[in-house]
This record gives sequence, C-alpha cells and structure tokens, in this order.
Amino acid sequence: MKMKQFNLLSLFLILINSFGSANSTIVSHDERAITIDGQRRILLSGSIHYPRSTSDMWPDLISKAKDGGLDTIETYVFWNAHEPSRRQYDFSGNLDLVRFIKTIQGAGLYSVLRIGPYVCAEWNYGGFPVWLHNMPDMKFRTINPGFMNEMQNFTTKIVNMMKEESLFASQGGPIILAQIENEYGNVISSYGAEGKAYIDWCANMANSLDIGVPWIMCQQPHAPQPMIETCNGFYCDQYKPSNPSSPKMWTENWTGWFKNWGGKHPYRTAEDLAFSVARFFQTGGTFQNYYMYHGGTNFGRVAGGPYITTSYDYDAPLDEYGNLNQPKWGHLKQLHTLLKSMEKPLTYGNISTIDLGNSVTATVYSTNEKSSCFIGNVNATADALVNFKGKDYNVPAWSVSVLPDCDKEAYNTARVNTQTSIITEDSCDEPEKLKWTWRPEFTTQKTILKGSGDLIAKGLVDQKDVTNDASDYLWYMTRVHLDKKDPIWSRNMSLRVHSNAHVLHAYVNGKYVGNEIVRDNKFDYRFEKKVNLVHGTNHLALLSVSVGLQNYGPFFESGPTGINGPVKLVGYKGDETIEKDLSKHQWDYKIGLNGFNHKLFSMKSAGHHHRKWSTEKLPADRMLSWYKANFKAPLGKDPVIVDLNGLGKGEVWINGQSIGRYWPSFNSSDEGCTEECDYRGEYGSDKCAFMCGKPTQRWYHVPRSFLNDKGHNTITLFEEMGGDPSMVKFKTVVTGRVCAKAHEHNKVELSCNNRPISAVKFASFGNPSGQCGSFAAGSCEGAKDAVKVVAKECVGKLNCTMNASSHKFGSNLDCGDSPKRLFVEVEC
Ligand code: GAL
Repeated sequence: MKMKQFNLLSLFLILINSFGSANSTIVSHDERAITIDGQRRILLSGSIHYPRSTSDMWPDLISKAKDGGLDTIETYVFWNAHEPSRRQYDFSGNLDLVRFIKTIQGAGLYSVLRIGPYVCAEWNYGGFPVWLHNMPDMKFRTINPGFMNEMQNFTTKIVNMMKEESLFASQGGPIILAQIENEYGNVISSYGAEGKAYIDWCANMANSLDIGVPWIMCQQPHAPQPMIETCNGFYCDQYKPSNPSSPKMWTENWTGWFKNWGGKHPYRTAEDLAFSVARFFQTGGTFQNYYMYHGGTNFGRVAGGPYITTSYDYDAPLDEYGNLNQPKWGHLKQLHTLLKSMEKPLTYGNISTIDLGNSVTATVYSTNEKSSCFIGNVNATADALVNFKGKDYNVPAWSVSVLPDCDKEAYNTARVNTQTSIITEDSCDEPEKLKWTWRPEFTTQKTILKGSGDLIAKGLVDQKDVTNDASDYLWYMTRVHLDKKDPIWSRNMSLRVHSNAHVLHAYVNGKYVGNEIVRDNKFDYRFEKKVNLVHGTNHLALLSVSVGLQNYGPFFESGPTGINGPVKLVGYKGDETIEKDLSKHQWDYKIGLNGFNHKLFSMKSAGHHHRKWSTEKLPADRMLSWYKANFKAPLGKDPVIVDLNGLGKGEVWINGQSIGRYWPSFNSSDEGCTEECDYRGEYGSDKCAFMCGKPTQRWYHVPRSFLNDKGHNTITLFEEMGGDPSMVKFKTVVTGRVCAKAHEHNKVELSCNNRPISAVKFASFGNPSGQCGSFAAGSCEGAKDAVKVVAKECVGKLNCTMNASSHKFGSNLDCGDSPKRLFVEVEC
C-alpha cells in the first residue's frame, strides 16, 4: 500500500516538472487571439510604469485599473535606472520590479513585461545607460558585439530575476507576454542590412531565454518568428499583422500625449479614445493596451527628451496623482465590461461585415450560442440613422455602437454618461507661509573667474561623453590672451557660440553675458552676445545645461549634446569681421555644480552646511541659488502638490528626494488652443490641446511617501535662472466639482472621490445645454424640480445614483418624443 502511494506521488511530481509547476498557465496564440490554457481571450491592458509612481501607490493604481475593467498591466523595464553603473544594480524602492509584478499578481491581474531594453517612453536616453554609449567602439541597436553583449546581459538578468520568483505564467506567475526591442521597425531601414541581422539576433537571443510565454515585438512588420508583431498608435483598426498567424494586437493605444517644456497641455477626449478601442475590437482586435493608463511623474532626472516635462500625466485614465480622470476612466470601464461579456463570440465567432453606406459598417460575430454586433460610423461629420436587422439605430459621427446581443444598443462611444470630475487645488486651509533660507551656489566665482575644473582637454567635448550624465551641468572654460595688437581688437567684439546645449549661460571675465534657451525644437543654434574683453588674459566660462537626453530616432544615442563649437571671439571693424576660433584651445571642464556635489538637498548634509544658509536678504531673482524651507505636510490622504509659480528653472527636493526638474517660467505659446474640442475626426497630439500661454508646468507632485506626517519636512530648491520663492505653496488636489450629462434611460453615478457631495449647483432634465460650469436649462424640463430631486439623492453622501428618466424627473409634454438628457453639476 505504501509503495503504491509513493508511485502516485512520483507520477504527480513528474507531471508537475514537465509542465513547470502545479498552477502553471499555458500562454500561446493563434491567428485570432492570445490563448490562455487553450482558451482564446479578449485582453484589456494598461501601462503603468513602476518608477513613475512610488511603491506605496502601486496597490491603489493597480486596483483602480482592475476596477476600471482591465485584466493586464503592461510595463517597460528601465535599464539605466536599474544599472546606473556597469554591473551595479538597483532594484530598491520604486525600482522594485519584482514587488511591482507581485502586486499585479496579488490583484489577480496578468502582466506584460516589455524588457526592451530600449524603451523610448520619453525616458532619459530611451532607457539606455550613458556609460554604455561611452564604451569603446559602441553603436546601439545594431550588430555591434559590445552592445549585444550588454543588451543580452541585462535582458538575461531581468528574465532570471523573474524566473527565480516564478513570475512567468509558465511558472504560475502573472507575466503572459514579454517584449524585446521597441518599435525597431520604425527605424530599421536606417541601419541597412545590419538592421535585419540585429532584429534576427534579438529574436534568437530572446527565444533562447526560454521564458515559456510568447515574445512580442511592437511596430515590427514581418517580425522574425516566433515573435508576435504588434501595433502602436492612436488608432490600430486599419492594422493587419503582416504574419497571418499573428493575432491583431495593440500594445500602445495613446490615451493622450506627453508634454514638452514650452508645450501645451494635451487632451484626448473619452469619446475618441473609446471609439478607437471599439473600432479595434469591431475589426478583429483581441489584445489592447492603453499607453498610458497611469502616466505618473518623471521624478529626479529620468525625463527624456530633450525637454520632456516632470509631469508624465499623459491625460491617462488615472491622472498623475492616481485620481480617476473622469469621464475617461468610467466611459472606458463601461466599454470593457461589455467587451468582456462578448469574449466568446469575438474570439471564436464567425465574422461578417455589412456595409450600411456612407462609412457605416455593421460587424456581426456569431457562434451557435451567441451573437454580438458593432455598428461603426467613421464619418467625421455626419450622424447616421441606419436600419440593421430590421431595426433603426442612430449612430453619431465618429462613433461605434455596441450591441452585445445584436439587438439592443448597450453603449455608444460618443454618448458619455459618466461624470466629469473637475480636479482643483484645495486652498481651504490657507497653507502656512514658508520661511526661506538661502545660499549662493558656492565657489562659483572660482569657476567663473578662474576657470578651474576637474579635467582638461584640448578642444571641445560632447557633454554626455564627459559627464556620463551624472549631472545636467557642465562648465566649459578657457582662457585667451589678447594683446593690443591682436587683429580682432575693436570697439565691437562679441562671443559667438555654436551650441547644442539645451540651455546655455555665458560668462566673460566673471560677468554674466547672457543665456540661450532652446525653443521650438531648435536644438542646434548660434548664440552671439557683445562682450567686454581686456588686454591680457580673458576668462570664458560657459555653462551647458541638459534637460533630458534624447530618447527616439535612428542613432539617437550619438546626437550631439553640450557645446560642440565652434566657439569664437569676433571683432567687427567697419565692414570687416575678424574671428578668433577658440574651439581647439585648451579647455577646462567641471562636471556638475558644487551644491549638487555637496548634496545641499540631502538631509544628512543639512547640519554640516547649516551655518552657510542665510535668512537675510532673501534674493528674489538671483541665478544659481539654493533655497530651503521647512513645512508641515498637509493633513489627510489627498495627493500633495507644490505650486512653484514665481520660480524660474531648476530642481526641487522634498526631504532629500528629488521630485524632478521644474520650469514654471517657461510658458507655452499663445497659439493653437481652441475653446471647443470636437472629438470627431482623427486625433493628433496637438488637437484639443489647452493651457496656451500658461506655464507648461506649475504644479509638481509631492508623493505622500516622501513626507513625514508628523514633524518637519524640508523643501530644497536649486534655482538656476532666478525666481521668487515667496509664492511657493503646498496644496492638496481634490475633486472640486462634478458634472454629468446623461442620456435618457441611462444611470448617472456621481461621486466626489471620498468627499461628500455638498450642494447641487444645476440640474435639468429635458434639453439643457452648455459645458460643465456653464450649464443652462433649455426650452423644456421635466415637471419635477430637478435640483431638489438630485439634492435629495446626493447631498451629504459620498456617491449617489439616479436614472435619467421621466419617472424620476417628471414628464413634460413640451419635450415631445425626442430623447431627453439630464445635466447635473454638484459641488464637493
Ligand atoms: C512610442 C514608444 C513609447 C512612447 C510613445 C509616445 O513610439 O514606443 O515608448 O515613447 O511612443 O509616448
């Protein structure tokens, strides 16, 4: 008897071994869909980048994603964050990738791991470490032994970490797909034959890592097998995988867009985003991922670019702080629920399409048990009244109706019933006035006047080659002797610098000459300013500032950074121009600024340098200055922001942790914003943008986990350009007002996000008009007092639900038969 038991056990163990583990999941694909344990699936996914939030935010973000109807979380892996120096790794805190994936697993969701390790992502240098570029004979993303070795090393490291924790689905973990490279198809032609050889190598290398789940390659037509190619873009309904056995998958549906310093605030409507999703599923798609679902914050110096802002909000369904971005989040949630309910017909059904004319098509997915339908109207202006299977349907322009049973319209992408939340900064409790101390960026005079640096070279160097990107700042300093007989000598002399520095500050003989700030993407420019030179030795000090390294494009890694020259002194004598080229001179270089090197922002060094911080004569517009103040953290749990209006440009730390670069003095251009945003027609990153002529970024996220609830907190600023810190304020962000515009027979749900609804500002059931904040009643209204009805249901409550119906709000003969709407505005 005992013997028999043993045999059964060993048989079981053999079975477990041959399939990975007892609860392993088999992920595969066919031409129609990703299959999980043999079942074709509809997968709804969203990108959340772990280092763009703090680890204490992860559970909430992931649970809001799940609640929003997602089943998968996608993330990139950020090489330069994890391997800041060669073979020295960091997976601590917000970089704890294993913990992030386990949090996803804990929530019962799947995960897509986009290892890259090139990621783009508006992340500094596209995720590549700068030390990699500075290795001998290095060339990125092509057949280059050094590059391939490092890429393989990092990819293997990540794969092994995941394997050790059994995080691949094949091991019972949540990771169902992994990605190698990123959109290489967009640039492959620039790499000639080597490009093809490289992508083949990528595929082989990835495959050899034996992860037990499929690999994907995005934007990679004809991806080497068995890689699955996928689509990225604002729309992927027209996309057809070039490999007929690849299912139609969408790894990046851009929910909004990123922001550049000097740029406007991007906005993609819920209607258009939902339209793109519904169209994708109408046209045979089965995996769709929102890029981003939560964009978050570029803390520290991780923003890429050049010129990507600290906020990476992206107008994503969850805003930078993790609040629901309504109506986007809720409008999509409704769609997700329906798509999930249609999983079987969508993935197994026969597909037939019916052209209803004028760019309207119906698609029927039918199995023996169930049929589901879509009616899509891709006409950008004309609404359609169509007859489908004997019934009339009204399909607004640029919208898709979803009919889970092919009969009743359960959803239309253009009919938003979800509330709009207006997020505001809370100034209820007047925040304390900060008491600042300050100090100059010290010993700068030595640098500016004497030009002493840490390394000397003949000629001009590329900034990242010298700094390894350890700092945004690099001083270029040289001396030039001019005697009376020098041919350039004249009354009118200038300094001319040909530069790629994102910001340039120039000093001659210790005096500030001026600066150049790149605008409108003109990263290659000539700076020229009149200067006073002396007979004898003249000192030139040029401070080159980088604002995020390039992250996209063929050979982007070798794009010039810093001051590449020529640097000249120019003398103008009448019509004659005489130039003195200093480019080949001996130059002194100083990496970084002293205050950074001495960690003036760090809590540990605070005591040490205490004496040198002064409360006297707080300067309001002084370049290269450090400011520090203590403050109490705002009470409660609402997200905290710091308003940096009044400041110039620099970096800001809270209790020693950098919350990113700031630049509120950089306004976006006055042009290109419109009052009205029409969701109809193709979206592009400029469409519907707002906040023209305003600071690109005025508010900066202060994660709660950076704050001490009790006791003192410290804010430290490094002000590069000059600004006035007296207006700096800490605030919280809360839902201030909520509006809804529901269509008749739909449910309206109102919620102030954990705060009670305090008053009803407007309510009308009939034909009201206007936008949130300026609603107006129309020519007809239901017989009951709508404000009273809503107040009874909602005031004093955290949330409330009502039907937009005559039953609730009363009927009125004047309203006729046309469909009515309920407009509501409540205060939180
Ligand atoms: C894609 C890229 C992403 C991100 C996106 C724009 O091309 O794959 O990483 O950069 O564009 O936000």
